[in-house]
Amino acid sequence: MLQGKRIVLGVTGGIAAYKAVEVCRRLVDAGAHVSPVLTEGAERFVGRTTFSALGSEPVRTSLFDDPDPIPHTHLGQQADLVVVCPATARLIGSYAAGISDDLLTATLLATRAPVLVCPAMHTEMWEHPAVQENLATLARRGVHVVPPEEGRLAGGDVGAGRLADPAVIVEAAVRLLGPGDLAGWKILVSAGGTREAIDPVRVITNRSSGKQGYALAEQALRRGAEVTLVTTVGLRPPAGAEVVAVASAADMEAAIVPRAAEFDAIIMAAAVADFRVASPADHKIKKGATVPVIELAPTHDFLVDLGRAKPVGQVLVGFAAETENVLDNAAAKLERKHLDLIVANDVAAPGVGFEHDTNAVTILTADGTRRSVALTTKHAVADAVLDAVIAARTR
Ligand code: CTP
Repeated sequence: MLQGKRIVLGVTGGIAAYKAVEVCRRLVDAGAHVSPVLTEGAERFVGRTTFSALGSEPVRTSLFDDPDPIPHTHLGQQADLVVVCPATARLIGSYAAGISDDLLTATLLATRAPVLVCPAMHTEMWEHPAVQENLATLARRGVHVVPPEEGRLAGGDVGAGRLADPAVIVEAAVRLLGPGDLAGWKILVSAGGTREAIDPVRVITNRSSGKQGYALAEQALRRGAEVTLVTTVGLRPPAGAEVVAVASAADMEAAIVPRAAEFDAIIMAAAVADFRVASPADHKIKKGATVPVIELAPTHDFLVDLGRAKPVGQVLVGFAAETENVLDNAAAKLERKHLDLIVANDVAAPGVGFEHDTNAVTILTADGTRRSVALTTKHAVADAVLDAVIAARTR
């Protein structure tokens, strides 16, 4: 599976370092050439002999005691992939800040290869805004993240922060080194809150930032898909996507519905207005003696139309931003709109949904399965949604 691939396995100083031993063994078993790089902290948890014996070459730990005077540049240039497992808060912080203070961080800055970061730490640290913001920065720069799981942590605590299963990490590495598991897919993603005109200068909109939609588009591109992004916001366009700019719900409908049949998957992450202004003024409404009353009219729910007209094999995904009865409301929308998947967001929860760089969701499928994704980056949520899209197609 990984024959001929060169992987730098960076191990940092957390208790989960013992699980990196298993990741090392599995990568070598899959045919990869694994160069282990340990930080000073990692050596306090696992001996270098273990990684030297299981890896494809002896462990390196330092920029200075290597026969090669510039080990980081050679490691970085030759690598097809760098995996950091486990990644501590310190490593994530240094990498995000561009600080190269040991062989591993120097290698991370020197490489052009894809990088897979597998965080593991105590829940409080994992949920700290500094860690989440640093990870979001890395994700924006194209670094891949395998989020930690919930479970038993060191010291007997239970919570989010446990290193992902070694099999999941190796699978993510295989995916990154392969042609991409979405190669051959055409995917449409909608993003942002729609804007309904009141008059030529004022609009009614909502708090959707579009970040989750952009993260979906970026991850789908990285995984090999051809991506069309229909967006109401002006974030940096993802390289390689077809970007269609729209404003109102009606614009978005006109941009999507006529060409819906082209796509293998449609992911409606946009927060589409349910109401528009019944008769927008064609001039700026001026202040006067009376306060204007704005009459609203319902917009057309075109996701219902997409559900009805869905071609065989197309995967249709809706989003449900809710503040109460989150899962029940989402399940009802899944059925009413004939969707394959719905991504439920409790937008009232801290760090979740609108405007944040992080999100926590539950993905519900038409056949009744539910997968919760604990608070993590919007890019990691995007990967979980795309995994569910692939699973829905093959069901
Ligand atoms: N949607 C749409 N067209 C609309 C309204 C919503 O395509 N006019 C899509 C959204 O993009 C989202 C899904 O439908 O993927 C659910 O949107 P939401 O506003 O949560 O659901 P509604 O059916 O409008 O229900 P409510 O607002 O009452 O919660």
